[in-house]
Amino acid sequence: MASAAVTAAVSLPSSKPSLSPASLERISFHKTCLHPRSTAAAKAGRLVTVRAQVTTEAPAKVAKVSKKDDEGVVTNKYKPKEPYIGRCLINTKITGDDAPGETNHIVFSTEGEIPYREGQSIGVIADGIDKNGKPHKLRLYSIASSAIGDFGDSKTVSLCVKRLVYTNEQGEIVKGVCSNFLCDLKPGAAVKITGPVGKEMLMPKDPNATVVMLGTGTGIAPFRAFLWKMFFEKHENYKFNGLAWLFLGVPTSSSLLYKEEFEKMKELAPENFRLDFAVSREQTNEKGEKMYIQTRMAQYASELWELLKKDNTFVYMCGLKGMEKGIDDIMVSLAAKDGIDWLTYKRELKKAEQWNVEVY
Ligand SMILES: Cc1cc2nc3c(=O)[nH]c(=O)nc-3n(C[C@H](O)[C@H](O)[C@H](O)COP(=O)(O)OP(=O)(O)OC[C@H]3O[C@@H](n4cnc5c(N)ncnc54)[C@H](O)[C@@H]3O)c2cc1C
Ligand SMILES: NC(=O)c1ccc[n+]([C@@H]2O[C@H](COP(=O)([O-])OP(=O)(O)OC[C@H]3O[C@@H](n4cnc5c(N)ncnc54)[C@H](OP(=O)(O)O)[C@@H]3O)[C@@H](O)[C@H]2O)c1
Repeated sequence: MASAAVTAAVSLPSSKPSLSPASLERISFHKTCLHPRSTAAAKAGRLVTVRAQVTTEAPAKVAKVSKKDDEGVVTNKYKPKEPYIGRCLINTKITGDDAPGETNHIVFSTEGEIPYREGQSIGVIADGIDKNGKPHKLRLYSIASSAIGDFGDSKTVSLCVKRLVYTNEQGEIVKGVCSNFLCDLKPGAAVKITGPVGKEMLMPKDPNATVVMLGTGTGIAPFRAFLWKMFFEKHENYKFNGLAWLFLGVPTSSSLLYKEEFEKMKELAPENFRLDFAVSREQTNEKGEKMYIQTRMAQYASELWELLKKDNTFVYMCGLKGMEKGIDDIMVSLAAKDGIDWLTYKRELKKAEQWNVEVY
């Protein structure tokens, strides 16, 4: 299993990354062993409610320890006034040349100083000043690597960044400050990093859980982190044996992010991993409608609804803000079939940390 991670790591860059001499020594794509990570079990903590069983009424609740109270979760270790200075190790485009827009996978050195968990984000402060002569404000980016990083040594953090370029009302081409700063970084360049932050998207601890992941575009980032931990790594205290189901929505097949890695996972654990793509500009459903992530989900509607009735099903959503409404719309009709009001039900799921959303 561990060596599979290596193959996947090798397959990642679509073009050969150029590494600084200093980083070459430490980065080996031919590692045969990823370090097991020991995670202390949560001890005391705030209690949250979970659904004990599902009926057509509002779900009953039992108490369980919140993932957000897990002792080891660090937040805001580095703040904007005193950011961590990491170095860019790899910066590689992972979308095809004909894809609309450009997305990069970027790896930074942390020397273990940014102790993040799968599902957290970091802040990046672009070099330079804004139009008021002040340093740029930080932008948040979901971490795309598992806690031990792409090289298994807990010394790196990776991001999946879309280069923002748009035409404004005056017809001028505008480039987003931080995404362009990041996508243009050369290996060896210094980067101001803050965080880690965020607890909403932390993974469920239960290794037998059903984890449904709904990502659009770069919203895939936290799910790559989850899935590496589940399928590419060995941990003393975590062996995933549940069901991971990833839905990924992208515009074209040339923008399917990390596709080879996910296909490798599917080969490794066909019983534990389901993978569904929604390629909006190339696929349609039987009614001829554009294939958005919610359109693909609708094809599995009753199966998804049955899964949602289980106490150990956890749904995660990340990416474009618009996707949330689209997904809510299909859930409303599913729930209604069982006489359940979706918004009430969703509230309970959220309380139980079974419905986790980070959209922007
Ligand atoms: C929790 C969180 C996690 C995130 N994770 C990621 C991630 O993993 N990967 C990723 O790529 N991004 C991610 N983002 C988004 C990221 O933080 C930045 O917002 C994004 O990179 C753009 O920043 P920028 O500095 O390049 O653009 P900015 O210079 O900040 O410009 C953005 C602004 O441009 C304007 N704008 C944008 N598009 C248009 C348009 N079409 N027409 C007119 N005006 C427009 C809007 O006013 C917008 O606020 C995340 C955001 C959050 C909150
Ligand atoms: N944690 C976070 O909050 C977080 C993390 C990562 C990224 N982000 C943000 O997520 C966004 C991802 O953008 P991207 O440029 O990487 O994505 P992208 O490559 O453009 O892919 C987005 C996909 O979603 C589709 N889509 C558009 N509207 C939709 C809707 N209402 N419902 C469902 N699908 C819809 C798009 O289809 P069409 O283009 O064909 O219409 C496309 O297929 C960015 O804004 C990024 O900043 C947020």
